[in-house]
Amino acid sequence: HDTLGDLAKRAGIKFGAAVNTDVLATDAKYRHLVGTQFTSVTPENVMKWEVVEPEQGVYDYTAADQLVAFAKQHHQVVRGHNLVWHNQLPAWLTSGTFTAAQLRDILHQHITAEASHFRGKIQQWDVVNEALNDDGTFRQDIWYNAYQELTGDGTGYIADAFRWAHQADPHAKLFYNDYNLEFTGVKSDAAYALVKQLKSEGVPIDGVGFQGHLDTQYGYPDLQNNLQRFADLHLQVAMTEVDVRTFVKQNADGTYSDTPATPADAQKQIDYWTNTVKACLAVKACKSFTTWGVSDNYSWIPGVFTGEGAGLLYDQNENPKPQYFAVADVL
Ligand code: XIL
Repeated sequence: HDTLGDLAKRAGIKFGAAVNTDVLATDAKYRHLVGTQFTSVTPENVMKWEVVEPEQGVYDYTAADQLVAFAKQHHQVVRGHNLVWHNQLPAWLTSGTFTAAQLRDILHQHITAEASHFRGKIQQWDVVNEALNDDGTFRQDIWYNAYQELTGDGTGYIADAFRWAHQADPHAKLFYNDYNLEFTGVKSDAAYALVKQLKSEGVPIDGVGFQGHLDTQYGYPDLQNNLQRFADLHLQVAMTEVDVRTFVKQNADGTYSDTPATPADAQKQIDYWTNTVKACLAVKACKSFTTWGVSDNYSWIPGVFTGEGAGLLYDQNENPKPQYFAVADVL
């Protein structure tokens, strides 16, 4: 039967998954699913700063290189994730006492080293991840604060990051990536203003990644028109980290199951999945759809959102769920 990747190919898009490389090495069923169902892979963690530069100036690309090799064997493209973020930074960086000017140099070196290492092997890079707060203001993280001190404009690291990434890998498509951008609102408007400004300054940005960590307890207003307004800025758009979590039933021992709390929640999950795939298919500039994981047994959701889970297309036994078949139907 056709895989998600086969179906997506006919629809003209890549269908990807975030991959846990530890699991890829140890779980044959998972490895088979990753290798056959998907046409794009994103490293769930192993291209993040804390993994690739554990000591200052000492790089370790072992795990990421293995995933890139796996992708090549399976004729998959790779989404690089990510070059600049406030999370999963190495301790030497966060607990160091660097001046603002040193931090700018550290950022420059890191982006140049990592993007150069993978030059020619990455289809889309998430260059800057999650620079915005939910209220639409800029996150005052280590990068923002350094640039604020240096130049009086905390946001300046964003344009620099795109320019440095472009210098290191001129053919990769460079993305701004964030969560809670899916539907219109203050955060989505702030991202829109940010990328419009970057484009107008000639900064080499190619696209916007909409993470798509959705939750059935919140509504699902219009995604398609929101994607389209970003596309109308002559940017690519991509769904980069989709999962659809819901509250799940509790087991007798207090742990949480993989079963949605109510049939209505289960149906909502299916609807959120199909609506999200359909929105991407309806927007010409949306050529890449990635789910944040493969199966619920390895999903990040239960560890972060207490009482919620069942976010992915495969269940805890790595068998396809109703949302898998619903997604296959609309592809
Ligand atoms: C998550 C991973 O899934 C976890 O394994 C890790 O412990 C923390 O990060 N937004 C992102 C991703 O851009 O990098 C995050 O991934 C999920 C939220």
